[in-house]
Amino acid sequence: MKTAKLTLDDWEVELPVTIGSEGEVGIGIHKLRAETKAITLDSGYGNTGSCESSITFIDGEKGILRYRGYSIEDLAEKATFLEVAFLLIFSKLPSSAQIEAFNLELTRHSLLHEDMKKFFEGYPPAAPPMSVLSTIVASLSAYYAPGEDEAGIQLNIIRLLAKLKTVAAFSYKKSIGQPYIYPRNDLGFSADFLHMMFAVPSEEYVVSPLVERTLDMLLILHADHEQNCSTSTVRMVGSSDANLFASISAGISALSGPLHGGANTAVIKMLKLIRDDGGNVRKYVEMAQDKSSNFRLMGFGHRVYKNFDPRARVIKGITDSVLEELGVSDPLLEIALELESIALKEDYFVERKLYPNVDFYSGILYRAMGIPTNMFTVMFSIGRLPGWIAQWREMKNDPHKRINRPRQIYTGPTQQDWVSIENR
Ligand code: ACO
Repeated sequence: MKTAKLTLDDWEVELPVTIGSEGEVGIGIHKLRAETKAITLDSGYGNTGSCESSITFIDGEKGILRYRGYSIEDLAEKATFLEVAFLLIFSKLPSSAQIEAFNLELTRHSLLHEDMKKFFEGYPPAAPPMSVLSTIVASLSAYYAPGEDEAGIQLNIIRLLAKLKTVAAFSYKKSIGQPYIYPRNDLGFSADFLHMMFAVPSEEYVVSPLVERTLDMLLILHADHEQNCSTSTVRMVGSSDANLFASISAGISALSGPLHGGANTAVIKMLKLIRDDGGNVRKYVEMAQDKSSNFRLMGFGHRVYKNFDPRARVIKGITDSVLEELGVSDPLLEIALELESIALKEDYFVERKLYPNVDFYSGILYRAMGIPTNMFTVMFSIGRLPGWIAQWREMKNDPHKRINRPRQIYTGPTQQDWVSIENR
């Protein structure tokens, strides 16, 4: 077995090395503190592996993303979102009987408990949809038992997959003051969601097959991304044996930040700002390079991708044709293309390997499909849910599972004597 040596003062420790199936190398530091009293420091965890996982592989230098070994390009073109969800959660592509049974189960569980409608009534109309989503998902554990055994856990997985899109659509309907539209069992996953979002009781709403397929593809592209901020949060919370709903609710909150899933909303805001400021793209590319401006190009850069983000490439590849088929012309797309073209010629972005990420073009497609900007990160959550569930399940079934509990290097005052309030 390969090992690594670490010396610290007089100590020398031999550390075991784990090699992944794609040749990735991990130095095991499990005994480091016990043998040396030292810990590792890695702010942002850029060099820290928190687990071994067989779900998703990313090679950030080569721009590769695979779920269970299947390339994201193949899955986006050939699979349905439900097939991908099944693949991530149950490790294998489903047979036709399995996908039929999976779909049937999901349609049977897509209704919300009627009492939960009262929750939506309690929110102000302008409530951020991600806050509504995370709190309602956390509240599901008040309605459904946590699931003590595999069958109970599996039932909750189905419930959550089935209900999240209903929660998302209800929160949108509530925000615009329209009546809730209930799920329909005769529609596929994405079509059902679009119907709940856009149908009104007074007229028939027919889901466009192009919009349905585009949505399915966007959800596939977001379905998992190994140990990112929200997924690590799901695993972290779940490591305390908190239930599935609580763990996923925490993941939704983590995703909401503008440096993570909230970036798709921030990109549209930024593109509108540039448009309203006369379309001077170069000015904003320059501002992004000026550290004193505190301005970043949203939708640019990634912790892992240092070449290109394959998801962004797939989205960019279909954006033109989808917009054309839908008969939508979006001036923000022109600004986005110009921004990318100017930025990628600047040394600042080249040297730091900053490329457009998945969030850079996804908002343009969501806008063309009629999805409002404040729902973009909710769409990301619906897409990411199978990944969160697969990672949570893998963590639960890991024979080496321990509660996640990092250490720290304390830098505060050393022991001080108590000072009474009159003497401070
Ligand atoms: N615009 C301008 N400069 C940037 C950008 C950007 N979008 N992103 C990174 N940089 C610069 C940093 O200022 C830093 O420069 P320095 O070395 O001179 O200090 C360098 O590039 C490295 O950046 P870090 O922030 O250290 O990189 P990190 O890996 O921690 O962050 C992140 C990655 C959060 C994605 C970052 O690139 C960013 O803020 N991007 C914009 C937000 C965004 O698009 N987020 C979505 C990510 S994808 C997702 O979550 C689905």
